[in-house]
Amino acid sequence: MTCNNYDIVIIGSGAAGLSLALKLADHATKIAVLSKFALTEGSTYYAQGGISAVFDANDSIESHIEDTLIAGAGLCNPEIVKLTVTYGKNSINWLREQGVEFTEESIGNGETKLHLTREGGHSHRRVVHAADATGKAVSVSLIDRAKEHPNIYLCEFHNVVELITSKESVSGAKRVIGAYVLDSKLQQVKTLTARAVVIATGGANKVYLYSTNPQSSTGDGIALAWRAGCRVSNMEFMQFHPTCLYHPNAGSFLISEAVRGEGGKLVLPDGSPFMHRFDDRGELAPRDIVARAIDHEIKKRGIDCVYLDISHKPEEFILSHFPTIYRHCLKFDIDITKQPIPVVPAAHYTCGGIITDSFARTDIANLYAIGEVASTGLHGANRMASNSLLECLVFADRASEAILSCLSSIPGPPAIKAWDESKVSDSDEEVVVSHNWSELRHFMWDYVGIVRTDKRLDRAMSRVELLKREIAEYYGNFRVTSDLLELRNLVIVAELIIRCAQLRKESRGLHYTLDYPNTDNSKPPQNSILIPENYNP
Ligand code: FAD
Ligand code: SIN
Repeated sequence: MTCNNYDIVIIGSGAAGLSLALKLADHATKIAVLSKFALTEGSTYYAQGGISAVFDANDSIESHIEDTLIAGAGLCNPEIVKLTVTYGKNSINWLREQGVEFTEESIGNGETKLHLTREGGHSHRRVVHAADATGKAVSVSLIDRAKEHPNIYLCEFHNVVELITSKESVSGAKRVIGAYVLDSKLQQVKTLTARAVVIATGGANKVYLYSTNPQSSTGDGIALAWRAGCRVSNMEFMQFHPTCLYHPNAGSFLISEAVRGEGGKLVLPDGSPFMHRFDDRGELAPRDIVARAIDHEIKKRGIDCVYLDISHKPEEFILSHFPTIYRHCLKFDIDITKQPIPVVPAAHYTCGGIITDSFARTDIANLYAIGEVASTGLHGANRMASNSLLECLVFADRASEAILSCLSSIPGPPAIKAWDESKVSDSDEEVVVSHNWSELRHFMWDYVGIVRTDKRLDRAMSRVELLKREIAEYYGNFRVTSDLLELRNLVIVAELIIRCAQLRKESRGLHYTLDYPNTDNSKPPQNSILIPENYNP
């Protein structure tokens, strides 16, 4: 059995994980960055619109804070919002130092400035971007920098199975000391030790049948932390992006909100606009409102999709602002310079997650969580567009400060039991895994999607209970595979989403239920907080 010892193990090679590794690299000698597939395979690489930060002379930090609080529908932590937004400019400048090239515009005399686009909920142009492929620009630069650093060990196709914790002999408090990790190329479970572990595993949006996310977004980090004993919050606030390309062969492909920010109109199949009937802000209302409006129109009219039309803009404008979207749609014979784009909502972002403080610390000593996996209080009940990559960068900074302040005083890990495979065999029934994957994602879409009811949530929960039993039995008897690990995590995430949704007896932000269609303003808004020992006694 292989054993590897590190100072710090970072689980995830997205914007959060890689930024942290780079910020730590000159101060710690052995930093492992794990990614369960290729290094690029995470939401970061696919991000389109950009990163929000105050650069415009007419904009202000106060305005960015206010817009974030409005979108968050009463549940943002104002201190965290202020902290994050204030670091916007620094974060963009840090990325530029790493080599990220953002789109610029001429201001005359041969000078340029950052071009700022606009997205839903933002009252100003404040989204810094690299055309419509911001995530790719960020991801490629960060990976290049990380590859150059001798203290960073990049481990692709390493899938974390379980965190390893130990109880302090005197205080009885739990601390993390490493992780069991499936090297999926060697098909071998390794034992990694670390003085600090950081979960940067991204979101859980693959729990739904239709999602804008890549295959990595199976909520592994949330499930790992939950099993280890961390509290989780606000999982009912799963964000559905209003505009995912609708085409039978397109898989999941996002049509950036920046298309609406630059004048794209949402229309029905007969070409008539409809967003003005739902919100004065029209196409640029916050995402929850736009996604619900589209869902409403699709269900009411029995249509397959609505359309997003930017074809009234000049062709050069479209080609320079949205080259990736243009090329991708053209593959499906949709010329966005001439035709409207068929779109539907799809699961996009996990606003809740592992509860952390303002230094990314979780409930377990030396265990941190950053990026989409964390519930920092920034997004409240609905994340505002382009605040997510910003959060990854800011909390990477906060985590690096926290880790470096205590790393040298953390004792080395005690002896760790190697992974035991003596009682399991290879599965001869992979169909159980694929069937359960599909079943889970179908009922989550149908019962726990954009519009919920108590009855639908109860139905979904009884199916989760059955699946949990079946998966636990399978996990106990067969050698682990990546698919099985993901399924085991997804069913936990589904349970946490449903439990949070069941706790909330009102509609707020992204959680909308026909049984309680109004926001409860009779008392201060509450986060939905789940404590593991209450559910796994
Ligand atoms: P990710 O980038 O998702 O990375 C997760 C990493 O964790 C991956 O390396 C993965 O392999 C690894 N991992 C997961 N589980 C395990 C495991 N068990 N073991 C080992 N490794 C594991 N946000 C914005 O702010 N602006 C945008 O314009 C924008 N556009 C978006 C467009 C799309 C199509 C999508 C899907 C999202 C978009 N978002 C955007 C959201 C944003 O991209 C994500 O929230 C953000 O990139 C998350 O970064 P992360 O580092 O937390 O996770
Ligand atoms: C988009 O480009 O529409 C995605 C932006 C985001 O999710 O923040």
